Order: sequence, then C-alpha cells, then structure tokens
Amino acid sequence: RTFLQLVGRVTLVTVVGSGALFYYVARKDRTPGEQLPHDPTKKTLVVLGSGWGATSLLQKLDTTDYNVVVISPRNYFLFTPLLPSVAVGTLNPHSIIQPTRYITRHKTRTVSVIEAAATDVDPIAKTVTFADESEIQGLVSSTTLKYDYLVYAVGAETQTFNIPGVKENACFMKELDDADLTHRRFLDCLESAAFPGQTSEEIDRLLHIVVVGGGPTGIELSGEVHDYLEEDLRNWYPELSSHIKISLVEALPSVLPMFSKKLIEYTESTFKEANIDILTKTMVKEIKDKSIVVQGPDGTKREIPCGMVVWAAGNTLRKVTKDLMAKLPEHQTNRRGLNVDDHLRLEGTSGSVFALGDCTATSYAPTAQVASQQGSYLARVFKLIARRDALSTELQQLESQGLLEGEKLKQKEDLVRQLEKVEKMKLFKYTHEGSLAYIGSEKAIADLPFGVGNLAIGGVATYLFWRSAYLSRLFSLRNRTLVASDWLKVRFFGRDVSRD
Ligand code: FAD
Ligand code: NAI
Repeated sequence: RTFLQLVGRVTLVTVVGSGALFYYVARKDRTPGEQLPHDPTKKTLVVLGSGWGATSLLQKLDTTDYNVVVISPRNYFLFTPLLPSVAVGTLNPHSIIQPTRYITRHKTRTVSVIEAAATDVDPIAKTVTFADESEIQGLVSSTTLKYDYLVYAVGAETQTFNIPGVKENACFMKELDDADLTHRRFLDCLESAAFPGQTSEEIDRLLHIVVVGGGPTGIELSGEVHDYLEEDLRNWYPELSSHIKISLVEALPSVLPMFSKKLIEYTESTFKEANIDILTKTMVKEIKDKSIVVQGPDGTKREIPCGMVVWAAGNTLRKVTKDLMAKLPEHQTNRRGLNVDDHLRLEGTSGSVFALGDCTATSYAPTAQVASQQGSYLARVFKLIARRDALSTELQQLESQGLLEGEKLKQKEDLVRQLEKVEKMKLFKYTHEGSLAYIGSEKAIADLPFGVGNLAIGGVATYLFWRSAYLSRLFSLRNRTLVASDWLKVRFFGRDVSRD
C-alpha cells in the first residue's frame, strides 16, 4: 500500500510539474517582451524568405547587432516534411506553420517583417525592390530598400520543364495552398464518381490518382493517399473504394535515387503490397484535362485516363534568382543555382550578399537539413561580422589620430590582432544526419550515418522514429502540441472527408 501511495504521489507530482512547465513555456511564447527599437547607427540586414534557411537564421541571430528586416510573400514558416500529411487531412494546415512574428517578436531588437515578394535585387546599389502581391493592397504596394547585408533565402519553385498542361491541370506539393488544393480536388474526384449514373469506366478514371516524380515528395504523398484510402475512405465510400487506383510515374529506372538500394527495394515491395503502381523509365509528356500522356521505356507514347495529377518533379530557380544571376554574369554561371563560397557569400558581391538553401548550387542536396544548418551557421557568421565591423571602426578612429605611440600603438596592435582572428571565420561544414521518408502503411525508411558506414532501416519502428524525429524538429511547443493532437485525433476519429 505504501508503495502504491508513493507511485501515486510521484505520478501526481510529475503530471502537475509537466503541466506547470507546459503552461509556463506556452505563456512565455505568447507574451513577448519589450524590444529595442531600430538603431540608425547599426547596419541593416535584410533577409529574403521565411523558409528553412531564413527561419533557422532568425532563430539564432543576435539582433542587438543589426536592424533586421525580413521580406517574404508568406508571413510564416512552413514545415515542409509534413506537407503531404496536410494533403490528405491527417494534419491541420495551421499545425505545421509558425508565424514569423512568433519568432521575431522574441528577439532583443525589433525585427521588421514585411509580407512581400522581392522583385529585384541590385547587388551594386545594394538595394532590394519588393512588392505586396497579396489580394488586398494599400496605397503603397511596391518600394525599394537599401541594405548593408542581404541574406538571400528565397528557395526554389516546382520544375515543370514547360511540359504542356502541367501548370493548368496538375496540383503541386510545395506550398500550403498546394496541399489544400490536392485535398479538395481528391474529394471532388470522389464525389463526382459518386454522382448517380456514372459509368464504371468513368468512375475508374475519376478515381485514378497519378503522382509524377519518384523523389521523396512523390513517394510520401502516394503513401499518405494510400493510408487515407485504407483507413478512412473504405468506410465512407464503400461502393467506390475498390475503384481507387494510385500510380506513381518516374522517368528514371528507380524511385528514391538518394536512398540505398535495399530501401528502394523495400519501398517498391511496400508499394506493391499497397497496390500502388510504380511506372519507372516512364516520362510524362503532357497533362490533359482528363488524362496524361506518357512515354514508356520502349519509346512509345500512350494516354492514361485519370481524375487528378499531383506533380512532384523537382525544383527549379525562381525568376528573381535568375534575374540576380543575370546581373553577375561573370560569377553566376551555374544553371543549377547561385554560386556561393565556403562562407555562403554570393560570388561577385564582395561579401555583402549571402545565399543559402534551395536557391544555391552547392555540393549538397536541396534539403531542409542543409538549409537549416546553413541558417544557423550564418547566425554565427553575422555575430563575427558585427565584431569585425566594430573593431574596424575602432581601428579607423584610432588611426585617424595620426602617428600612434606608446599605449595607443599597443591598442592598435591589439585591435589588428583581434581583427585578424575574427577575419578567420570558420567555413560552412554540413553534417548529414540521415535521410528519412514515410512510405505509407505505417512504414518509413531511414538511411542513417552509422560510424564510417550507413544504417539502412525500414518498417513500423522506423515509422515511429520518423514521427518522433519530425515532432522534435518542429520549431515550437505550439506546433508540436498541434501536430501530436492531430495525430491523436486521426487515431480516434479518422480523417475528415468534408470538402470545404
Ligand atoms: P524554402 O523553405 O522553400 O523557403 C523559401 C522562402 O522564400 C519561403 O518563405 C518563400 O515564401 C520565400 N520567397 C519565395 N519567393 C520570394 C521572393 N521573391 N522574395 C522573398 N521571399 C520569397 N527536406 C528535408 O531535409 N527533409 C524532408 O523531410 C523534406 N520534406 C519535404 C517535403 C516536401 C513536400 C517538400 C516540398 C520539400 C521537402 N524537403 C525536405 C525539402 C525542403 O523543404 C527544402 O529543401 C527547404 O525548404 C529549403 O529551404 P529554403 O529556405 O532554401 O527554401
Ligand atoms: P526530386 O528532384 O527528388 O524528384 C523528382 C523526380 O521526378 C525525379 O526522380 C525525376 O526523375 C522525376 N521526373 C522529373 N520529370 C519527370 C517527368 N516528366 N516524368 C516522370 N518523372 C519525372 O524532387 P522532390 O521529391 O520534390 O524533392 C526535392 C528535394 O527535396 C530533394 O532534394 C529531396 O531530397 C528533398 N525532399 C526530401 C524529403 C525527405 O527527406 N523525406 C521529402 C521531400 C523532399
């Protein structure tokens, strides 16, 4: 009895303690304090973007040293790894986004957040022109700002290769709106198939979902759609569920080329069990209103009827990035993206512009892992730059006093020494933490660095690891709580099938 009482007390203390801690952290997050105003003597640091690169920079940046301005067409950070879960209603869209102001309002000095898209960067005049491209605009909707330092983190957009019909007829999987559109269109296909009098052939067409691209985005989305079908749609659309077909089209000989062979095979066999057709060595040539045209391994073209297409065929550069490259023709010649040095300084801009993430051409894959490590690295670089700039100013002031002797000379030598030390900034070094992907049927795959080799694992345990890894990666307690409660909601009540 004494033992049970002890266990009861420990449990009570733990529950009350965790609850109090949770309340304290949540309360602290919600109530930002006073901030220092912008200081005209400080340099202006403009950050373009609010994605992985920009947000991890903002989280770590010491804003006492700069007047920081963030410009991005979205006023929030989007946790892309969980976007496919939004497309099937497992997660609420707002669970995986974090308003940028929730981060910037906690910084020491005020950070201006502007919802606008950069339309032009002039690396010579050191200016950025940006425009409010939202539905509602005020009297002023475009302006130009001067910067001392610019962090260019605008990411990339979806590659369409100018294939006819992609923009007009396919859904993408890049932004929150894309996931929302995919969800609505999928349910529309179901409701149209349920319309009385529909022929069996037309039902099959409407319920054929084609995913283009066998990279991780296409694989994860196919897996999520399969779960939706198995766990929910079979119950609510019993007469239609057997007609639903998912096909994944990939131009290369295999899906997921970045994963180890064992995991590629595991994914292929999991998809086979789940009745997801993988068409490899098959190139999509056109997307029509009610079908896609593909070219198979033997070179022949055929038309496949379908209800909807999700296009996940990789990245390409944004127009504003291509325009910036055109302004630096001698240094920016890489068609894959912006050339940066090992300190992430944009080639050709003498250290005033830094670029990171998907808009750059480095030896790293365009992933969130890379962009976020680059963002954290830049926060450290800007600390050093602030120190360097302060030392240079001090040195200049000292030197302006003419011939230096005695104490002053010693002071100058000390400053020069310090400056030399600061100038030796460490280069950016990426640490690969492994690749993870969800493949549906409550299974995930993971290629994890292990000693000098690699650990390739897949299955249900990896799926639990995938969930906990991404839960811990979310940027705030708020997001973690929302995502965990969405998962719990789906476990109890299933996914919603209303088409809002
Ligand atoms: P982004 O995160 O795309 O941010 C770019 C920012 O710039 C956005 O805020 C955008 O609004 C803004 N912007 C756009 N145009 C302008 C403009 N003109 N002016 C100013 N701002 C602009 N990677 C992983 O490592 N693991 C994963 O599990 C993973 N899953 C993914 C799942 C999906 C569905 C997708 C699409 C990608 C996934 N990725 C994953 C890749 C990862 O999301 C990207 O590599 C990462 O977002 C790149 O970060 P970034 O900061 O360069 O760009
Ligand atoms: P991707 O570039 O990795 O894959 C796109 C695929 O589409 C390619 O395999 C390509 O061959 C195929 N393709 C292109 N055109 C085609 C056509 N006309 N017909 C048929 N197939 C065609 O793109 P994805 O998946 O969007 O990933 C982008 C980046 O984001 C990658 O670096 C990826 O590693 C990262 N990412 C990582 C995830 C993870 O780690 N879980 C999840 C999602 C993305």
